[in-house]
Amino acid sequence: MDNNELIKMAHKAKEFAYSPYSNFKVGAALLTTNGKVFLGCNIENGSYGATNCAERTAIFKAISEGYTNFEKIAIVSSSGDFTMPCGICLQVMSEFMLDKDIVLSNDNGDIKVLKVRDFLPHNFSFKKE
Ligand code: THU
Repeated sequence: MDNNELIKMAHKAKEFAYSPYSNFKVGAALLTTNGKVFLGCNIENGSYGATNCAERTAIFKAISEGYTNFEKIAIVSSSGDFTMPCGICLQVMSEFMLDKDIVLSNDNGDIKVLKVRDFLPHNFSFKKE
């Protein structure tokens, strides 16, 4: 699946964002190595710390259904600008897709592709390299 298609799916996921506190909608589309796509949106809570980011929603949905091998993840937001994943999401991604692509897009149709490792070159992990 190409990056544009995955970005389009991330935009669809963004529409389901539950973000009445920040009014900031984020969508993620996670492609597994066997071609399945899991969508995720941010889900906020009145107890703010209970909020879950779009990326983790997509990843946790996939893992909980038995998929642990990922090819890439597309992320978009309502800002219209590139939206970088937060540190907690990067840590979660590093466990499953350290050398895989994060595909970012803005509303001008520009695309940036970075590896999880680019963001987190010295990640914490129990896994031996
Ligand atoms: N958010 C995400 O969904 N992903 C990120 O990588 C950054 C932040 C959400 C969390 C919260 O609902 C809103 O954006 C503002 O922080």
